[in-house]
Amino acid sequence: MKKVETGDGTITLFSEEYDQPFHSRSGALEESEKKYIVPCKVKEGDLILDVGFGLGFNVAAALEKKAKVISLEKDETLFKEIQELDLPLDSYQLVKDVANGLEDERLKILVGDARDTIKTINEKFDAVFHDPFSPPTNPELWTEEFFLEVKKRMKKGAILATYSYARVTRDNLKKAGFKVIDGPIVGRRSPSTLAINE
Ligand SMILES: C[S@@+](CC[C@H](N)C(=O)[O-])C[C@H]1O[C@@H](n2cnc3c(N)ncnc32)[C@H](O)[C@@H]1O
Repeated sequence: MKKVETGDGTITLFSEEYDQPFHSRSGALEESEKKYIVPCKVKEGDLILDVGFGLGFNVAAALEKKAKVISLEKDETLFKEIQELDLPLDSYQLVKDVANGLEDERLKILVGDARDTIKTINEKFDAVFHDPFSPPTNPELWTEEFFLEVKKRMKKGAILATYSYARVTRDNLKKAGFKVIDGPIVGRRSPSTLAINE
């Protein structure tokens, strides 16, 4: 896959399948920090559900905070791709090692369609990073039905964060029973979205 340098100097990849980069061009690592870690108030001991492992940047940022993560990903070829990537976070080595087959209690990656793998999860999460590709190109993970499956697995008061502010995203989150509020504005004019399991 083609490498793309982003505004904070970190390198992401470009997905030909979805015709978009894996992260915001304004800054890949900045996006992990400001759109996911900060608004979800991630702290030591939290259990995070990561929807869309991708290149594992959001996961590495959560592991830096000493949180534990269960991540959902359908595309196993990425586990090889990321061995060539780098990120200025110590935890990225652990992410690469787990993607390479290492077992570690801090990170579990469930491989397969997230609509199926989520149904095998019995844990309850402190926060959710919802980061599939955009709703028009990756619609199956932005439905009311999928958000309901996610919500069932969230603790009371837990926050789901997503970069998308699209109408369909917010409408389907509301239909699934979340309270929806604006998230931070990072790298563009519109806010991201936070959904609270009240
Ligand atoms: C934008 S990327 C995620 C970037 C990632 N959060 C990171 O920090 O590097 C979206 C990911 O969702 C995965 N994906 C898309 N549809 C999926 C599905 N139905 N089930 C599981 N994973 C899916 C894609 O393969 C891709 O890796």
